[in-house]
Amino acid sequence: MAKTPTKTALVTGGNRGIGFGVCRQLAARGFAVLLTARDAEKSRAAAAKLKSVGRVEPVVLDVANASSIEKAVADVSSRYDWLDVLINNAGINYDTWETVENAEIDGTVIETIRTNLLGPWRMCQAFLPLLRKSRAGRIVNVSSESGSLANMGAGPPAYQVTKAALNALTSGKRGLPWLGRYRHGRYWRPPRGRWSQWNPLGGNTTG
Ligand SMILES: NC(=O)c1ccc[n+]([C@@H]2O[C@H](COP(=O)([O-])OP(=O)(O)OC[C@H]3O[C@@H](n4cnc5c(N)ncnc54)[C@H](OP(=O)(O)O)[C@@H]3O)[C@@H](O)[C@H]2O)c1
Repeated sequence: MAKTPTKTALVTGGNRGIGFGVCRQLAARGFAVLLTARDAEKSRAAAAKLKSVGRVEPVVLDVANASSIEKAVADVSSRYDWLDVLINNAGINYDTWETVENAEIDGTVIETIRTNLLGPWRMCQAFLPLLRKSRAGRIVNVSSESGSLANMGAGPPAYQVTKAALNALTSGKRGLPWLGRYRHGRYWRPPRGRWSQWNPLGGNTTG
């Protein structure tokens, strides 16, 4: 297996928009960036644009397709020993044309759930083994204020529901601690000053 020379980060939907910007910034900060896109040519073209910024490598990955995720894991594993940062950025369907009443459950809604919720969920599960090999693996799930139960308005239904669910999936004080731990039915955080002994990904954190 290849030796991992530096910090590594993988970004979904890295070929344009926010994902592309994140790839650029990570590359500029010395990360080896795995710029993923569901279309091979788009992934290659976007990575080529960042050649002068740093180390950016194209990877084909459709987050709505389980076998595509499996292939990407195999591809990344053949290049690197571990992954430091996974950024679940890919997202779709700001469905302003729908209301809760008329939303197309078997169309837009299912498609949005597959991409915005099940995509990041599968990605986390699939890349955990590589993240756990990092000294301090990190997962970033890109959400939206539209998914905030406290702040959301009457907006795009499929988008809002999936981003709210993504928030629930994301580790946090009140979120599902699937990267953390439950103890006695409660989310467990380490006592003050003992963070060095605790890495939610189970790796060998020293900082
Ligand atoms: N823009 C905003 O104001 C805003 C605000 C809050 C949150 N966000 C969130 O930020 C993230 C990025 O938003 P953006 O504005 O940069 O969106 P964008 O410009 O529409 O780009 C979306 C990216 O996701 C990719 N993608 C879509 N479905 C995919 C799939 N099944 N597998 C892999 N990649 C897929 C797209 O690839 P293709 O090129 O192949 O379509 C594209 O690269 C999203 O999660 C969005 O919800 C955005």
